[in-house]
Amino acid sequence: MKSADIRQAFLDFMKSRTHRIVDSAPMVIQDDPTLMFTNAGMNQFKDIFLGNSEPKHPRVANSQKCLRVSGKHNDLEEVGVDTYHHTMFEMLGNWSFGDYFKEEAIDWAWELLTDVYGIEKERLYITVFGGDEKDGLEADQEARTFWQKHVPNQRILDFDRKDNFWEMGETGPCGPCSEIHIDLRSEAERKQVDGATLVNLDDPRVIEIWNLVFMEFNRKADSSLHPLPHKHIDTGMGFERLATVLQGKTSNYDTDIFQPLIQAIEKRSGKKYQASDSQVDIALRVIADHVRAVSFSIADGQLPSNTGAGYVIRRILRRAVRYAYSFLEMREPFIHELVAVLVTQMGEHFTELKSQEELISKVIKEEEESFLRTLSRGMERLETITSGGEKVIPGEKIFELYDTYGFPVDLTALILREQGLDLDEEGFKAELEKQKARSRKDATSVTGDWVVVKEDDVEEFVGYDQLEADVHLTRYREVEQKGKTIYQLVFNYTPFYPEGGGQVGDTGTLERDGEVVRILDTKKENNLIIHFAESLPKDVGSDYKARVDAEKRQRTERNHSVTHLLHKALREILGDHVQQKGSLVHPDYLRFDFSHFSKVEDEQVRDIEVRVNELIMQDDHLDEKRNIPLQEALDQGALALFGEKYGDTVRAIRFGESMELCGGTHVSSTGTIGLFKITQETSVAAGIRRIEAKTAQAALAVMHQAEDTVAEAKELLKNPDLTKAIQDLIHKNQALTKEIEELNSLKVEGLFKELKSQISEVNGVPALVREVPLDAKAVKDLVFRLKDSTQSIFMVFGYADGPKAGLTVAMTENLVKEKGWNAGQLIRDWAKEIEGGGGGQPFLATAGGKKPEGIASALNKARVFLEEA
Ligand code: SER
Repeated sequence: MKSADIRQAFLDFMKSRTHRIVDSAPMVIQDDPTLMFTNAGMNQFKDIFLGNSEPKHPRVANSQKCLRVSGKHNDLEEVGVDTYHHTMFEMLGNWSFGDYFKEEAIDWAWELLTDVYGIEKERLYITVFGGDEKDGLEADQEARTFWQKHVPNQRILDFDRKDNFWEMGETGPCGPCSEIHIDLRSEAERKQVDGATLVNLDDPRVIEIWNLVFMEFNRKADSSLHPLPHKHIDTGMGFERLATVLQGKTSNYDTDIFQPLIQAIEKRSGKKYQASDSQVDIALRVIADHVRAVSFSIADGQLPSNTGAGYVIRRILRRAVRYAYSFLEMREPFIHELVAVLVTQMGEHFTELKSQEELISKVIKEEEESFLRTLSRGMERLETITSGGEKVIPGEKIFELYDTYGFPVDLTALILREQGLDLDEEGFKAELEKQKARSRKDATSVTGDWVVVKEDDVEEFVGYDQLEADVHLTRYREVEQKGKTIYQLVFNYTPFYPEGGGQVGDTGTLERDGEVVRILDTKKENNLIIHFAESLPKDVGSDYKARVDAEKRQRTERNHSVTHLLHKALREILGDHVQQKGSLVHPDYLRFDFSHFSKVEDEQVRDIEVRVNELIMQDDHLDEKRNIPLQEALDQGALALFGEKYGDTVRAIRFGESMELCGGTHVSSTGTIGLFKITQETSVAAGIRRIEAKTAQAALAVMHQAEDTVAEAKELLKNPDLTKAIQDLIHKNQALTKEIEELNSLKVEGLFKELKSQISEVNGVPALVREVPLDAKAVKDLVFRLKDSTQSIFMVFGYADGPKAGLTVAMTENLVKEKGWNAGQLIRDWAKEIEGGGGGQPFLATAGGKKPEGIASALNKARVFLEEA
C-alpha cells in the first residue's frame, strides 16, 4: 500500500464508524502558553476534554501534523540515530467526546489493523495500565477484559505509569492508556525469543504503533488527579511506523514517505545510504527528517528566529546543517533544494506546502547560509584556541564557542578528537548550568491552580458589541512573574478582547462600590479568555462592572481595519503572491509582514499609501458576518491565513472589496481611520518584507514632524527653496575641498623641503617627530614624499583639526625588517594620549582621536621610544 492509501484507508474506516473527518490543526500553536507545537492529535481538543468548550461532533478523526522537539514529549536526540523516531510526524487519530469508550475503541483498532490492513494477529502485543500506588489507581482490568476478546491473555502485558498513563504535559487532561505493539522480526527470531519480552525495550523491531488513551483525569499543578466531567477516547497511531509495517520494511526511512528525500540527499552529497548505524547514514536520516519539520513549520507561519518556537525551528535546521557539514562534508547550502522533493511528495494532501514552496526554500537557504558562516567563524576561533598547546581545552573556552559563535559542542568535540585533543566536558556543563540559572532567575513564572468560583458555562466574548458589561468571576489563579504577583481572572462574560490575530489585548478596569481593579492585559489560553489583573477583586463572588479602555480600543481598531486595507492594496500593487506572514496591531502603530521577494520600491510604497487612503476615503461600511460557513466565506473571496485554525463556521470582515477571515475588532466604516502613513519598509527574513505604519493623529504627527524638519532646514539655510539651497551647498563644498587640496599640496611641498633638512638621527635611526599644520590626507602625501626621498626614516606626525586630533606613524621597509618595528602596534599605545584608536600596516598607521591637547605627549612617547629602542 502506498502511504497516501494507508492514510485514506484509516480515514475511510473511521468515517464508516460515523466519525467526522477534520483537518489537521496547525503544527505551530498560537494560543496555549503551555505548548509551543502540536505534540499529539488531541491538542486541538484539549478544551473539550477539560469541559471548557463543547464538542461540535461527538466523534472525530484526522491525520494530524505533530512535532515533538520540546517539553514533555521530546524525541529530538533520538531522531536519525534510530529508525522510528521523528521530529515531525503524522498521527492518525480517532476521538470520542463523552461518547463511546474503551470497548469500541479497542474493537475498532483491532478490526482496522487485522481486517482492513491485514496485519498478522500473532505479531501484535497489547499493553495495559498496571496501576499506580502514588496516584491511587488500580490496574486497568476493564481494558484487559475487552482485549481478551481478540488476544490471548499472555500477549496482554501490564506496564506502569511511565509507559501506560498518558499525559499531554505537566498538567492537563490525562488517563490510563493501552498500546498496540508489533513484532517485526523474522519467524526464526520470533521462535527463539518471545516477543512479549521485548515490548517497551527500545528494540527497533518491536515497536509501538497505536496508543489508545482513556481520558478520565485532569492533572493539576500540585500533581493531584481530578476526574473530568466526561470520559473520552483519544487515540494516536504513528503514520510513518504503520507505513513501515504495511510496506514490509524495518525502518521508517525505507518507506515511500522518506525514500524520495533520502535519494535526493544521496544524489546531492554523493554518499550512499546503507541503512546502517554509520554517521553518514545517521546524517542522511537526520536531514530527511528535519527538512520536513522545518518546511511544515514555515508553511504554518513560523519562521526560524531567536526566541520561542522560532528558535526551536532554527535549532532543528542547524542540527541538519551540522550533520551535513560534519558527516556528508557538505559546505554549501543544499537542504533548501529538498523542499521541491517534499512538495512533490506531500503537497497534494498538505496544500499549504505546495502554495508556499518558494518562500519555504528561500527561508531555509538563508538560514543555511548564515549558519554555515557561523560555523566557519567558529572554526577560525577554534583554531586559535587549539594553537595554544593545551591538550584538554577548558570548559569556558568551549562555552565561549558555543555561546558567542553558536558553535555546537558535539561538533567541537568531534573536531578536537580528530586532532587528538580533548575537552573539559564537566567544565562546559558547569558554565552551561550557570547560564541556565541566570536565565531562570530572569524569567521565573509560577502558575497556581485555578480556583473555581462558579461553575458556569463557557465564557462568552461580548466585546464586538459592547465595551462594558456586568460580569462575575468564574475562576482565578495567582501567577508569580519576576517576583511580582498578579492575578489571572476568567469571567462569565467579557467585553475585553484577548490578544489574537495580531491585535493586542484590551486593558481597562473592574469596578464595584468605589473599588477599582486595573486589567493590565487580556490573553487567550485555548478557549479561556484570561484577564491579567494587578490585584484580586475584594469580593470574588460579586458582580463587577468590566470596562474596556475605549479610547485605546478605538485607536487599535483603526490600525486593525487599515491592516486589511493595506493587505488589499499590497495585493493590487505588488501582486497576488503577497500573503500575510504576521502582523501587530497596536494602539499607536501597526506592523504588517508579508511574502514578497524584493524590496518594495519607494514609488510602490507611495502608490500603496495613496491606495490605502483612497480606500479610507471610500468610507466603506463594516460588513461583519459572525457565523458564516468557512467554505462559503472562501467562495466569496475571503482571504484566509496559513497556520491559522479555523472552525466550520468563521467570522468574516468585509470593507468594500476587502474580505478577510478575522476575529479582531474593527471600525464601523473606513472613513473613521482618517489617515494612513507608512513609516518604514524593511526586510524581516528571506522573502519577507515588513511595512510599519500609523493612522489618524499618529499619522498626522509623523507628517508634522517631517514638515518641522524641512522648516528648520529652510530656516538654517535661510532659503525657502530647500532643494536649490542644498545643491548650492554641495557645489560650494566641492569647490572648497578642491581649493584646500591645492593649498595643502603647496603646504606639503614647503614642509617637505623644510623637514628634509631637519631629519636627525636618534640611536642611529634618521627620524622626524613633530606636529604639522596639515590634515590626514596631506600628512599621507608628505609621508610618502619623505619616504621616497631617502633610504631610511622613521616618522611620527601629529596634527589637529578643530576638536579632532590625528596621528600618523610611518617608516621605511628596512626598519620594519631590521628592527622588527610595527607602526600598527606602536600607534595603539601612543593614540591613547589623544583619546583615540587606530591601526594599519607595519610601515604605515594612522589614528584619529578627540583630544588635540594630547598630541604633544603622544609625540613625546614616540621620542622616548626612539631613545630607548
Ligand atoms: N495522545 C496520545 C498520544 O499522543 C494518543 O493520541 O500518544
